[in-house]
Amino acid sequence: MTGRIIAHRGMSRLAPENTLAAFRMMAEHGVQWLECDVDLLGDGTAVLLHDTQLDRTTDRSGTIADLTRSDLEHIDAGSWFSPAFAGERIPTLDQLIDLLNALELNANIELKSPVGGAAAGRALVDTVLKALDRLDPDRRIILSSFNHLLIRRAADQLQGAPTGASIELACLFTRESLREDWRTVIEMAGAGIVHPQDRGLTRAEVETMRAAGFDVNVWTVNDPARANQLLNWGATGICTDVAHLLIRGSAGRRS
Ligand code: G3P
Ligand code: MG
Repeated sequence: MTGRIIAHRGMSRLAPENTLAAFRMMAEHGVQWLECDVDLLGDGTAVLLHDTQLDRTTDRSGTIADLTRSDLEHIDAGSWFSPAFAGERIPTLDQLIDLLNALELNANIELKSPVGGAAAGRALVDTVLKALDRLDPDRRIILSSFNHLLIRRAADQLQGAPTGASIELACLFTRESLREDWRTVIEMAGAGIVHPQDRGLTRAEVETMRAAGFDVNVWTVNDPARANQLLNWGATGICTDVAHLLIRGSAGRRS
């Protein structure tokens, strides 16, 4: 069994999630794919953060919409996890691009869904695509989102616009949103990859998706036995908080 092991928010059990420290740590474990969450600050700077609020993963409270790029150097995104990571910052997407190029890593970049309306959604997609222009040609990117209209926007923007790096598109589904019309949704979104939630996912579902020609990367799987089961069923990738464990086992090493 081989499959793509994707470090969910970086090596998020070993380092603070969505920080450069969590991504740098991948190299020493031989993990090649990361997952991260991207959103925009109030000034339009693309940054990596899961929550719209700062409280859980930084020493600040409030919302990222109230921040600008110059605020980032004053915010500690590491101490909440451990004093050893004091001084870690909320990374910008530009910093991630530099790191992907330098360490030859690949990324599943999850577009968080803005609450600011269509203009905000377009701004997020277009900002991310522009940033990806700086990627080296041999880097691989999956753009994913629960908001499938953002993926549709990305598909439209990518059409006829040659990019250096490989950019593929994925639709994220929760157990509840994975309905029988999933294929219509994903095809209309212009995506080629399904990212289903692990909870309750069946062999028949994985096999149907694979038979229909879609890659299937399942989130978030932290049990090695379950990861192996999913890969045996034909899943192409596993998004996990414990990439350091799964990469060592039979769950797979391949990119
Ligand atoms: O990409 C899979 C996973 O990251 C989706 O959920 O909430 O961890 O961003 P969440
Ligand atoms: Mg995510």
